[in-house]
Amino acid sequence: FNISSFQKALMEWYRANKRDLPWRANQDPYKVWVSEIMLQQTKVDTVIPYFQHFMSKYPTPHDLAYADEQDVLKTWEGLGYYSRARNLQNAVREIVSSYGGKVPDNPKELGSLKGVGPYTKGAILSIAFNQPHPAVDGNVMRVLARVLKINDDIAKAGTKKKFEQYVQAIISHDDPSTFNQGIMELGALVCTPKEPMCMFCPVQDYYRAYQTGVEKELPVKSKK
Ligand code: ADE
Repeated sequence: FNISSFQKALMEWYRANKRDLPWRANQDPYKVWVSEIMLQQTKVDTVIPYFQHFMSKYPTPHDLAYADEQDVLKTWEGLGYYSRARNLQNAVREIVSSYGGKVPDNPKELGSLKGVGPYTKGAILSIAFNQPHPAVDGNVMRVLARVLKINDDIAKAGTKKKFEQYVQAIISHDDPSTFNQGIMELGALVCTPKEPMCMFCPVQDYYRAYQTGVEKELPVKSKK
């Protein structure tokens, strides 16, 4: 497994094939954060109009911090999982009171904010701040399980940590933002759960599960 050729193939594919999504217009950490929170339990197509509306009402952490909570929840209506919106407002209030309204660029401060778990923290640090941190969700575990032929049960506690260590080992240090988004995008567009389109896969050559014909059996996921 040649890490630098893998990175190159993945990132070139991403640059040429990425979807034009509103939170990708720039690397504003606040926008990346809001989008990642919305995307955690909701599909991309549903999120797009909510994200745009939310950003027109609350374009900065300051606007969201000073907004009326009921108004924020009303804007969130339809996305569900309202605790996400409450945590988000709680966290931006902390940012305004403790960090001058700027989203922190380090794991310790970010991780202490309400609703910011390991995935969101890694997504903000990598996508917005271009720091080499893993951002592992279900999509990323599926892609990596197939690429690296990892048989660990993704339903088990502790497996995610293992995937985070794999990402640490293979992430591009030149462009962690593109690398992580490339894996996410590959999982969304090509390396899909049911009928992965392996013949269009940019990392086919590095792809151990495909070479041995077991791609549809990975990832391993036990019933809860
Ligand atoms: N799913 C989770 N994060 C995403 C992102 N940044 N872009 C597209 N889909 C995602």
